[in-house]
Amino acid sequence: MIKKIPWWLKIIIKIIFSRLPMKYSFWQSIGLFRHGKMDNTDYSIRVFKEHLYKSNIKSIKNKVILEIGPGDSIATAIISYAYGASSFLIDSGYFAKANIIDYIRLKNALISEELNPPNISNKDDIDLILKKSNSEYLTEGLSSIKKIPSNSVDLIFSQAVMEHIRKKNFEAMNSELYRVLKKDGVISHQIDLRDHLGGGLNNLRFSDNLWESKFFVKSGFYTNRIGFDKMISIFENLSFKYEIINVQKWKLLPIKKYKINKKYRAQDEENLKVKVFDILLRK
Ligand SMILES: C[S@@+](CC[C@H](N)C(=O)[O-])C[C@H]1O[C@@H](n2cnc3c(N)ncnc32)[C@H](O)[C@@H]1O
Repeated sequence: MIKKIPWWLKIIIKIIFSRLPMKYSFWQSIGLFRHGKMDNTDYSIRVFKEHLYKSNIKSIKNKVILEIGPGDSIATAIISYAYGASSFLIDSGYFAKANIIDYIRLKNALISEELNPPNISNKDDIDLILKKSNSEYLTEGLSSIKKIPSNSVDLIFSQAVMEHIRKKNFEAMNSELYRVLKKDGVISHQIDLRDHLGGGLNNLRFSDNLWESKFFVKSGFYTNRIGFDKMISIFENLSFKYEIINVQKWKLLPIKKYKINKKYRAQDEENLKVKVFDILLRK
């Protein structure tokens, strides 16, 4: 039903609802505000395996993994351990569900794949699961990354996260990722440039002043609107070597060009047509 709501009504609903005094877990349970799908067993295993496959790392035994933006689950901690690795999970808030049944389901799925997850029981809580998984879950975004030692991480990945990092922090965040990555490490991002109002480009209608205002940023539909070319040039300027391994494009722009704010309208149309892309970054 929520899919049929027009983009502008979604903005209004989210602005109002995000100001009601409910806990995130309530919105999560009714699906109005959610941070992705990592609480789904199949999705979390698939995402993890896809980043491993794309990064072309043969084995992650005894390696260090960092996931940026794990969203509603600490699944990556459990999956990394099952492969023999330790991990950091960094988000901008404490969004992981405390539903231990989900983590037991994940453990069982990993065992059925002949992997070695930690021994999670229904008496455990999130902190104990993290401890058993040799993992740290840090929830202060940029400040959290600063706590990780330089040249210490073998694989960093993110799934639908880079577009959510505040525009004003984007370079600083990626500069930190450069710092913590080992010399022979690799970063794998899947970046979704569609708006979070129905999967179009309605986010580009707005001026930076309004879109970057606290009022909009705190309403649950923020994306930084850094386009494909611009993101790549930021990665390049930070000295990353990059490899684009997949680009999905719209055949036609999903919005009439004249409706796009003039700052964003000036971009090349082929650049605006990029919906989702996968990129590897190395030092
Ligand atoms: C669309 S959700 C994706 C969640 C998960 N990766 C998935 O695929 O289900 C975006 C995530 O990025 C996180 N995020 C946004 N800004 C961040 C930051 N500065 N540092 C770390 N995570 C951030 C959000 O809190 C959220 O968990």
